[in-house]
Amino acid sequence: MAAMFGSVCGTLTLLMCVLGGQALDLLRATATSGNPPSTPMVHCWCASYPNLTLCSWPEPALSPPTHYITTYSERHNQLATRQCHLTPPNSSSSALNSSSSEQLWHCHLPNLKLLTDYIINVTAVYSGGSSSHLASFMLEDIVKPDPPVDVRVSPHNIRNLLVEWSPPPTWANLDIFPLKYQIMYQWENRGTPKFVNLGPFESTKAELKGLTPGKVYQFQVCAKELLGLGECSNWSSPVNITIPRTKP
Ligand SMILES: *[C@@H]1O[C@H](CO)[C@@H](O)[C@H](O)[C@H]1NC(C)=O
Ligand SMILES: *[C@@H]1O[C@H](CO)[C@@H](O)[C@H](O)[C@H]1NC(C)=O
Ligand SMILES: *[C@@H]1O[C@H](CO)[C@@H](O)[C@H](O)[C@H]1NC(C)=O
Ligand SMILES: *[C@@H]1O[C@H](CO)[C@@H](O)[C@H](O)[C@H]1NC(C)=O
Ligand SMILES: *[C@@H]1O[C@H](CO)[C@@H](O)[C@H](O)[C@H]1NC(C)=O
Ligand SMILES: *[C@@H]1O[C@H](CO)[C@@H](O)[C@H](O)[C@H]1NC(C)=O
Repeated sequence: MAAMFGSVCGTLTLLMCVLGGQALDLLRATATSGNPPSTPMVHCWCASYPNLTLCSWPEPALSPPTHYITTYSERHNQLATRQCHLTPPNSSSSALNSSSSEQLWHCHLPNLKLLTDYIINVTAVYSGGSSSHLASFMLEDIVKPDPPVDVRVSPHNIRNLLVEWSPPPTWANLDIFPLKYQIMYQWENRGTPKFVNLGPFESTKAELKGLTPGKVYQFQVCAKELLGLGECSNWSSPVNITIPRTKP
């Protein structure tokens, strides 16, 4: 394996060659003049195992490429390349700014095989040259559901709280590939933030005990594939609740 990586790396003009676990990332730039053009920073994840795999990368704000060529193949059959389904950045949806005014390209890789190494090649083509980002992945390693939705927190019995949520609607095969969940809640104690992580839970609710009346608590939930493939989703949008003071 290492020898094969070595030869792949050796045949390219490399700016960077990272071998992290099973992941291989290669960046190559070719420029006919001037500075090397910027290489797309590609991030791939599987939002619904096994059928929804996406890669995304930001469009450079200054001097964007004229176009992209996006191909992928099985690592051990690189002659059979396929095009991925490219979606341009959508300014009105990225106006829902999670971070900045970053414009993201997305590409969809349908029908990937299980337990198979893939290589994706995202090449940004500029008038003066081109620049490729190669990434390799196995579906099982990049599973990351979307966050759970509809998180509800309500007082329950005396001094307890009931936290309920719904699975991410994009996770299509809940019956075959169930999810497990973690709860994080936080509060401030004399100006210092405190955090508690609970779980995993296999159901979509949990009852919590022993919270302090009068305090504000913030709740978030994340979802992970039940057998532990990949990573937990991003945290859901926070929900705050003030624990009611019990009457004497
Ligand atoms: C995944 O997609 C393939 C091809 O589109 C389809 O045949 C299969 O039923 C899908 N699998 C699941 C679990 O949805
Ligand atoms: C952009 O996204 C919005 C909502 O997310 C949608 O209504 C609109 O049609 C999209 N525009 C393009 C050009 O895809
Ligand atoms: C989105 O960006 C605008 C200005 O760029 C900012 O005022 C606003 O607070 C941002 N919203 C979120 C949810 O980050
Ligand atoms: C990546 O794709 C570009 C554009 O199709 C191609 O020129 C380049 O050779 C590819 N790189 C590799 C390592 O396959
Ligand atoms: C998860 O959070 C990161 C950082 O805030 C963000 O860039 C990414 O788009 C989020 N992913 C999803 C699926 O919401
Ligand atoms: C929710 O609770 C968190 C943690 O106590 C706090 O930092 C945040 O300001 C609260 N948000 C609102 C809208 O009350």
